[in-house]
Amino acid sequence: MTRLKLAILISGRGSNMKALLKAARDPSFPAQPVLVLSNRPDAKGLETAATEGVATLAIDHKTFGKDREAFERAMHEHLEAAGVEIIALAGFMRVLTPWFVNAWKGRMINIHPSLLPKYKGLDTHQRAIDAGDAEAGCTVHWVSPGVDDGEIIQQASVPIMPGDTPDILAHRILPVEHTLYPEALAKACKMIRAQNDASE
Ligand code: GRF
Repeated sequence: MTRLKLAILISGRGSNMKALLKAARDPSFPAQPVLVLSNRPDAKGLETAATEGVATLAIDHKTFGKDREAFERAMHEHLEAAGVEIIALAGFMRVLTPWFVNAWKGRMINIHPSLLPKYKGLDTHQRAIDAGDAEAGCTVHWVSPGVDDGEIIQQASVPIMPGDTPDILAHRILPVEHTLYPEALAKACKMIRAQNDASE
């Protein structure tokens, strides 16, 4: 089985990226990481990826000023050059323009720390607590032009306990993200492969 070439886009510590790299150590995992790319040169996750022997690249979005598309075109060039077939956003903190999202339509997934469609955007844990929800969780979804809005691939939930703070809840959800993301990525790869087979 040929594995889909995977790029992981990060902005920070990269714990989800690490979970994906760990899963991909298994040669039967359907994606093979070829690039970890960060918009922040100081992202901790870049060091982790390099330790894992994966190619890393930082493209500082700040050097492009307000021109989001120019930044994305630079990313796009490198992704294409690396032969990337699927992108996993893992704590990538830049909103992507419709141009980039359409260029990678059906080939880009994201993990979001809420039970979508609830709590798109930021402060998801605080918002779930404030709403008095009994459960919170995380979602992996296809990326579409709306923020955290694409079709859901897989979700996992955890209980919200009395006295939870956003930090406590985030710590309960994060390990669940680390299990969910590799599973959902494998599922996404199968969907892409099925589509490729059907169009051949
Ligand atoms: C995770 O909670 C993820 O769901 C969200 O950003 C956070 C990234 O954490 N999109 P990490 O960099 O993967 O540790």
